[in-house]
Amino acid sequence: MKKEFLKSSNEQLKKFAEIVNRDKPLRQVTVDEKLKVGVDLGTSSIVLTVLDSKNKIVYGAYEYDHAVQDGIVVNFIESVNILRRLKEKAEKVLGRELKTACGAIPPKTGKRSAKVVANVIEETGLLCTGVEDEPTAAAKFLRLSNGTVVDIGGGTTGISVFKDNKLIHVIDEATGGFHMTLVLGGRYKIKNDEAEELKRNKNKESEVYAVIRPVVEKMATIVQNMGAEIIDPVIVVGGATNFTEFTTTFSKKLKRRVYKPPYPQFVTPLGIAIFDD
Ligand SMILES: Nc1ncnc2c1ncn2[C@@H]1O[C@H](COP(=O)(O)OP(=O)(O)OP(=O)(O)O)[C@@H](O)[C@H]1O
Ligand SMILES: [Mg+2]
Repeated sequence: MKKEFLKSSNEQLKKFAEIVNRDKPLRQVTVDEKLKVGVDLGTSSIVLTVLDSKNKIVYGAYEYDHAVQDGIVVNFIESVNILRRLKEKAEKVLGRELKTACGAIPPKTGKRSAKVVANVIEETGLLCTGVEDEPTAAAKFLRLSNGTVVDIGGGTTGISVFKDNKLIHVIDEATGGFHMTLVLGGRYKIKNDEAEELKRNKNKESEVYAVIRPVVEKMATIVQNMGAEIIDPVIVVGGATNFTEFTTTFSKKLKRRVYKPPYPQFVTPLGIAIFDD
């Protein structure tokens, strides 16, 4: 992978983190310019991203949700309501209507779940221009033609291998950030909400990480078991990779360099918008 590519996506992610959920666009837009919208219906949050025709970041917002489990929409009405709120807020901030959007699903989840995602999007008045698979969206944003994307979200860990821009291998395991929360909850005998808060507390990171390191090692083992199928570089994305030592643990297990962009939870949502063409 060319270094400057990773550099440009890292810069974009930092810019996005500055504006997301701040009710302000990165720049003013005109009423008739082309905007590209991405909708990521995740297990832990629903993210709306807006790019311009050159794939430059314009706006973004998210809300936490419980309407999606392991990448599958389980509460249609709640998903629609959240997305509708996100869309209305975006239109108010941007001072114009959003017309189209692209969605995404985890790979191998089938046509039916793609249809559900399209229905959620269209129920809010947006025209759904496509439903991509999530790792392809992530790889697109990272401009990764050859390599392995490991996306660790709330409920799922997806490993996707790309060769010459093609997704050639996919593995999905039902483990993710929620698994870490459960382990923390068990260790400290606290409820899930409290454990989730503790997990994200930067001041407690070293103590927290000591408890969840075995979970991360287990996730790395899933990748390791793919053996020769792994193609370098290995890039980890998704909210659950938000620990300073995460890549160190992964690198040690895999005996190869592992990369993590800043704000890894926004890689897939931003990649989805690129496909709204
Ligand atoms: N700062 C943080 N520190 C630790 N974990 C975090 C942090 N921020 C988010 N997470 C965890 O990341 C997970 C959510 O990641 P992400 O937003 O990528 O998931 P998602 O796309 O909603 O879910 P999925 O891809 O599984 O459908 C949650 O388990 C959350 O607790
Ligand atoms: Mg996700």
